[in-house]
Amino acid sequence: MMKKVYVFSLLMYVMTTHILSAAEDKRQLVKLPEMMQSHMMSNMRDHLVAINEILLNMENGELDKAAEIAESRLGMSSLESHGAAHMAGFMPQAMRQAGTTMHKAASRFALKLQEGDVLQAYRSLSAVTSACVACHAAYRIR
Ligand code: HEC
Repeated sequence: MMKKVYVFSLLMYVMTTHILSAAEDKRQLVKLPEMMQSHMMSNMRDHLVAINEILLNMENGELDKAAEIAESRLGMSSLESHGAAHMAGFMPQAMRQAGTTMHKAASRFALKLQEGDVLQAYRSLSAVTSACVACHAAYRIR
């Protein structure tokens, strides 16, 4: 009986520590000045809005509109309006790289849309969202 209780508590212990470590936030904190923080977060929200608008346009066969949104709001053309050069100075190298990967993937995606190849376009859209996910998994700003 004692042995059973012992095994049970050991099991509970292992399970709880496992759950706790899964919940632990391992993302690296990147400190940005307050103004830049809110600027970045509003850019981020616009990224998600843009992806949603792109998908809606794709659904309606409006590939050129989708391409325009992808290039101007997520692609290489969006860098200036996002103040990317200014922000980059505050970011670790790997985070900057993740940003560049995302912008380049978005520009490639816009090209696929312009070429009118929907299946290829969907494939290259997941390269964009994978870049979002990779950066989110590694960094936080607050
Ligand atoms: C270079 C890194 C990086 C890339 C690339 C990136 N993000 Fe983010 N994003 C962040 C960070 C850091 C935060 C803040 C997380 C935190 O501090 O909790 C964030 C936050 C967000 C938020 C929350 C905004 C809020 O107000 O709460 C959304 C939505 C978001 N990102 C969408 C996206 C989408 C969609 C993409 C891809 C198109 C993307 N992000 C690409 C780094 C990135």
